Amino acid sequence: MKTIDELLRQGVEGKRVFVRADLNVPQDGTTITDDGRIRAVLPTVKALAEAGAKVVVASHLGRPKGAPDPAFTLRFAASRLGELLGSPVAFAGDTIGSEAHSAVAGLENGQVAVLENLRFNAGETSKDDAERAEFAARLAALADVYVGDGFGAVHRGHASVYDLPRLLPAYAGYLIATEVGVLRKLTDDVRRPYVVVLGGAKVSDKLGVIDHLLEKADRILIGGGMAYTFLKAKGHEVGISLLQEDQVPACLEYLARAEKKGVEFVLPVDVLVSSEFPDLKTKAPAHPTLVASDAIPADQEGLDIGPETRKLYASKLADAATVFWNGPMGVFEHPDYAEGTKAVAQALVDSPAFTVVGGGDSAAAVRTLGFDEEAFGHISTGGGASLEYLEGKTLPGLAALED
Ligand code: 3PG
Repeated sequence: MKTIDELLRQGVEGKRVFVRADLNVPQDGTTITDDGRIRAVLPTVKALAEAGAKVVVASHLGRPKGAPDPAFTLRFAASRLGELLGSPVAFAGDTIGSEAHSAVAGLENGQVAVLENLRFNAGETSKDDAERAEFAARLAALADVYVGDGFGAVHRGHASVYDLPRLLPAYAGYLIATEVGVLRKLTDDVRRPYVVVLGGAKVSDKLGVIDHLLEKADRILIGGGMAYTFLKAKGHEVGISLLQEDQVPACLEYLARAEKKGVEFVLPVDVLVSSEFPDLKTKAPAHPTLVASDAIPADQEGLDIGPETRKLYASKLADAATVFWNGPMGVFEHPDYAEGTKAVAQALVDSPAFTVVGGGDSAAAVRTLGFDEEAFGHISTGGGASLEYLEGKTLPGLAALED
């Protein structure tokens, strides 16, 4: 993979450099609630601007349906990028139209423009190769060089991620280079014990990674909504908790394989339950009840791991040499269900291990719960991307940079 350092050595003064970033940040109206992904691309954008490039930043935000949708504008992310850079950035209200062309034409050396959401064009995510290729060709007309730095999107075979880098000289930006370097440490020559903590809502999103990690990890700790499908597989009733009934056979198979391979597979022993999902807007007290994980009442749902599980998971993390964590342990957005996620984050902070937090939700959880990012070995900007990397899949956006 050629990196941006090589490009900078060749010189970029006056060149139009297309930076495919992942500015898919959570926002509330006009406010960006977690700007981690914008900060993550700053080193690349700054280095190019300082070297005199005309920097054209493009990204997706959310999942609009191939047409403009004001709810998913990148305008506010663009302003935040300007604030973080300390100089205003131009914003084009389209991606391949007249606004984009005049914004790029108006750039002086060292200036930055942000294009509107790439997914406002059907060609970006199209499954039709010709439609994607046509969109990519129109994006290519805006630039001389491509820098891929949207790590969170490298698992997508989209036009700006997969097709465009084949049309221009292409380089990996600093974020992609760092993320890949870290994930390599989790796949080659990993230091042991290697403990993996998986949470989040759906087992089905994590099947591939569990399958792969059963061959690599020494211990797998499960929390979040996905834990209830595993508890069900163990024969426990889970009340009205999140349950993917169709995944029970897969969970059973993983439990059996873990036992055979000597991989410790740890499930919650107690959980906080309630008959109602908490109000995340008002954050009104939820008054949860604590129950053993094999005694969830029929009319209750599990919303966080309990105190015994928190202690158990902290002890299972204490002697780790490498930790990968993806997915919150409960509904951390509500203070009554945040303790499980906090306990795992704290255990990582206290650990001398090489710790990696993977994914949008867990990364946002760590920041919103007030943890210092520096206390972790690495906080990945990619949720799906880091999981697919660990699954051993070929990621289209990385393959395109390697060609
Ligand atoms: C993410 O949030 O994981 C990335 O930005 C990719 O977004 P997507 O899942 O909508 O492709």
